[in-house]
Amino acid sequence: MGNDLEKVLLSESEINARLDQLAAAIDADYKGRDLLLVGVLKGAIMVMADLSRRLHTPVQMDWMAVSSYGSGTKSSGVVRILKDLEADLHGRNVLIVEDIVDSGLTLSWLLGNLRSRGAASVEVATLLRKPEAAKVNVDVRYVGFDIPAEFVVGYGLDYAENYRTLPFIGTLAPHVYEGRGA
Ligand code: PRP
Repeated sequence: MGNDLEKVLLSESEINARLDQLAAAIDADYKGRDLLLVGVLKGAIMVMADLSRRLHTPVQMDWMAVSSYGSGTKSSGVVRILKDLEADLHGRNVLIVEDIVDSGLTLSWLLGNLRSRGAASVEVATLLRKPEAAKVNVDVRYVGFDIPAEFVVGYGLDYAENYRTLPFIGTLAPHVYEGRGA
């Protein structure tokens, strides 16, 4: 890892403790109800795996992969589906599982898209949220941590596809993404 990481923002044990709380809240809210977890690839794989295994509510899992049009155009909010769900959402209770809500544009689009498929309910659980980066208000029912608008990696989150496998959330040293001797 060298000196690419600036600091540990959230340790493995902090993440685990918060996931325990989120899972308890989800179990209480969905007790006795059908629940489909929808993970948004690729960042959500870690939180999906760890959150879902803490749930006592029987759940099913499905996955979507989405991408903003072009590169560096996330702010457009125009999203295309790279991999769609396999499940029929009619009458289902859906919980979107995300690693991070940044501008909120991906999630805003996703909520509209999944709601239009006839789901009984669509809610969101995200490990991280950056309130200062929000470009659109999205109603997120379960939030692990509100964090500052820093470049974070680890626990599913990448920089140029690296760092996803770190068991904690760290901030990246600016020299890495500014291309100065990373
Ligand atoms: C991340 C994250 C969210 C989205 C949030 O995915 O997983 O889906 O960005 O950003 P927003 O709130 O500004 O829309 P990314 O596009 O980096 O893909 P990845 O999960 O495959 O890394």
